[in-house]
Amino acid sequence: MTDRAAVAPADAAAIERAGRLLREGGLVAFPTETVYGLGADATSPQAVARIYRAKGRPSFNPLIAHIADLDAALAEAALPKAAIRLAEAFWPGPLTLVAPRAAAGSVCDLACAGLASVALRVPAAPVARALIRAADRPIAAPSANRSGHVSPVTAAHVIADLNGAVDLVLDGGRAERGLESTIVSFVGERPRLLRPGAVAREELEAALGAPLAAASDAAEIVAPGMTASHYAPRARLRLNAGELERGEAGLDFAGMLRSRADAGATILDLSPQGDLVEAAANLFGHLRELDARGAERIAVAPIPAHGLGEAINDRLRRAAAPR
Ligand code: TXA
Ligand code: MG
Repeated sequence: MTDRAAVAPADAAAIERAGRLLREGGLVAFPTETVYGLGADATSPQAVARIYRAKGRPSFNPLIAHIADLDAALAEAALPKAAIRLAEAFWPGPLTLVAPRAAAGSVCDLACAGLASVALRVPAAPVARALIRAADRPIAAPSANRSGHVSPVTAAHVIADLNGAVDLVLDGGRAERGLESTIVSFVGERPRLLRPGAVAREELEAALGAPLAAASDAAEIVAPGMTASHYAPRARLRLNAGELERGEAGLDFAGMLRSRADAGATILDLSPQGDLVEAAANLFGHLRELDARGAERIAVAPIPAHGLGEAINDRLRRAAAPR
């Protein structure tokens, strides 16, 4: 482990080097289409333990294993028909499937936090795909931030949080979606939405032809992303704000707060156009930026509840939760 993380543009040579580092038990941060991941060899408990240490994450939080394709998923988990239907519709892409582990699966216990289930995702970002090929094994990767911080969407965000704790950061530019993958569990009787994310519930339900059960119906461990104050910036958040109060900075949507504020007010707009995909992509970056500008309190404009708005509101509620 070095003092300062090496950052390399994600070209073919750097990806080969990263694959070698992963096979040797190293930690490599890499871009996916959702957010940057902090990757380790998912088959090695030693390597996976370094992830928990680097993140300061409680070790009972299970990790997502990033794999090459549906065949690799079938080697790791018992996927029911409905899960395969979602995999065929949304992989590669920002969807994570949780299912019972296969007896011969290669993902280690520690990556699954000892659960009888495993979380699997086939990312779409070319750098992530090339890295999985280079590592030649599943890559366990949580978002590459310290536990409880907002997820990183650029290599600079990764360095800000994890400098010194990671062997290599592959810089592939800004993560396009800016919001984590949607997690659907196939552990119980009905598919359940464990975490809203970059694939909207409506799209999943259309592909399934049935509604998804709510995470709160879950008897099994609920994703730790669901504990209060998980995605927290330093500033305090006030949600569904109609206008700025004294001393507040603004996190706006479609210009709503701006239209009622003084010209000098600090306001960042998630999407001046009112586009929820753009808003999702800007969410974590804007929260960081308001923190960087020294905001103590942030008024957040109302965000529509449909489509990606569900995941955005979910993250904002967590960020606003008392801590
Ligand atoms: O977009 C993403 O999903 C990013 C990129 C890097 O792939 N990854 C990510 O990982 O957001 P992380 O660790 O920050 O969130 C993974 C979530 C956690 O809330 C974890 O509890 C849940 O997945 N999870 C993993 N395995 C699980 C399992 N077997 N059962 C239930 N939840 C699980
Ligand atoms: Mg995370």
